[in-house]
Amino acid sequence: MFSVINLSFKTLTERYNPSLFNYFYENFPEGFWVCEKNHKIVGFIVGVKTNSEIARILILAVLKEYRRQGIGNILLKNFLREVAIENIKHVELEVETKNKSAIEFYMENGFEIIDILIKFYQNGKDAYAMRLII
Ligand SMILES: CC(C)(COP(=O)(O)OP(=O)(O)OC[C@H]1O[C@@H](n2cnc3c(N)ncnc32)[C@H](O)[C@@H]1OP(=O)(O)O)[C@@H](O)C(=O)NCCC(=O)NCCS
Repeated sequence: MFSVINLSFKTLTERYNPSLFNYFYENFPEGFWVCEKNHKIVGFIVGVKTNSEIARILILAVLKEYRRQGIGNILLKNFLREVAIENIKHVELEVETKNKSAIEFYMENGFEIIDILIKFYQNGKDAYAMRLII
């Protein structure tokens, strides 16, 4: 868990309370995946089930030097496979409007922008709400 927390500090602008990672893992382990390469955690995804039909991706991050190698895709595919087993119909997430690589990544994976959320983040930045219908 320490490696995941460390990776989140390195790759994300938002700061998450480290205890949240344990909380999410204990509540919905099916939504928590890590990718390891050469004994090193290089990416992870954390998602939750918000009700019987909707899941939400909270964090997805891959270390900079390991990007564009398909790791994000593998993490997302594992997550989507698990939520499909749970009969989830929609997967939702928010992404900063200026985060072009993540928006591109999610659109390539079938997500669409459904809303813009003004000053969504702690730092006052806006977000897009995105959704995938499974
Ligand atoms: C978004 C993120 C997780 C993608 O991870 P990744 O391992 O690089 O993604 P993949 O290699 O699986 O990319 C899959 C496809 O997404 C698209 N994509 C990914 N990064 C892209 C970029 N920088 N620009 C354009 N398209 C991109 C491409 O279509 C790519 O396929 P291709 O490489 O064959 O062209 C990664 O950029 C990241 O960690 N960003 C910082 C954290 C973040 O913003 N997380 C999302 C918000 S929570």
